[in-house]
Amino acid sequence: MIKWNPELYGRFLLSLTDFTDAEMLELVDLAVELKARRRAGIRGDLLSRRNIALIFEKSSTRTRTSASIAVRDEGGAAEYLSKSDIHLGVKESVKDTARVLGRTFDGILFRGFSQERVETLAKYAGVPVWNGLTDTFHPTQILADLMTIKENFGKLKGLKVAYVGDGRNNVANSLMIGCMKAGVNFVNCTPKELLPDSELVEKARVMGERNGATVEVFTDPHEGVKGANVIYTDVWVSMGEESEKESRLKLLQPYQINRNLVKATGTPDDEFIFLHCLPAFHDKETAMSAESGALEVTDDVFEAPFSKVFDEAENRMHTIKALYVSALADGAAL
Ligand code: CP
Ligand code: NVA
Repeated sequence: MIKWNPELYGRFLLSLTDFTDAEMLELVDLAVELKARRRAGIRGDLLSRRNIALIFEKSSTRTRTSASIAVRDEGGAAEYLSKSDIHLGVKESVKDTARVLGRTFDGILFRGFSQERVETLAKYAGVPVWNGLTDTFHPTQILADLMTIKENFGKLKGLKVAYVGDGRNNVANSLMIGCMKAGVNFVNCTPKELLPDSELVEKARVMGERNGATVEVFTDPHEGVKGANVIYTDVWVSMGEESEKESRLKLLQPYQINRNLVKATGTPDDEFIFLHCLPAFHDKETAMSAESGALEVTDDVFEAPFSKVFDEAENRMHTIKALYVSALADGAAL
């Protein structure tokens, strides 16, 4: 029988700091159990009669499908609401929409631009709200990343994750926080133009101290990745920042993940994995610019045995399910 911490009932996830370090790790462990449950062919009713609204202002493959199937697997239903389907922030304030949807749904997952918007939804909905990505944070992604790292190494504490790329984006921010909360040493390798917010780094440093983990920022990726167990990257141009494309491709070319950079870790093969939240530019078909063939990761790294990106993508579903189940499941359904 699956058990989880009752303290997680009704909880929101706007940023990973909404959970204690121990609670965050409990969610990862719950996701591992739910994955095994699904692998055993069990589609249960932990979320029977639960309805979840999925509000998406930005496009999505993984988050949308994970968020939808996670509830359906356990007997509930999801309603996808794109920004053109509802009045959110156009004919109706976010506050009013939150109050309406909170009367109809048991939970709301939101993907959009501003962190403030998901916070407003959370303030007024009266039901759990989960952040499925904003310009600032992508916390559900990092639960899946931590799960994937734990699956591969059997532990989290004491490992080293090197994020290489756009050092100030949503994934980099949340990954830094998640690593500090899990006791994972974190290095952000990024050009000086894309440094993470120094206040956030300072907050993360304090979180890491209590778990014996360090956070460092490097502009030289070859220096930063030394001893890393995980190299992690993301797209060079995040959704909503398309106007920056030309300058980003130039700035980030030296931060491409290729065999040379992997070699620079000096880490033995069986102690190293590559992660990417996806979608990824890794071959001709997906190259960001036909002229430059710009790729944040080369195909030989993306397709290597140490690349765990599709396990990571699958784990989005199990971790979102862990969030739903812990926040909404009716103990009587067990
Ligand atoms: N990693 C991730 O959030 O993917 P989607 O944009 O496809 O949801
Ligand atoms: N940083 C990326 C993540 C995509 C999942 C973006 O915001 O577009």
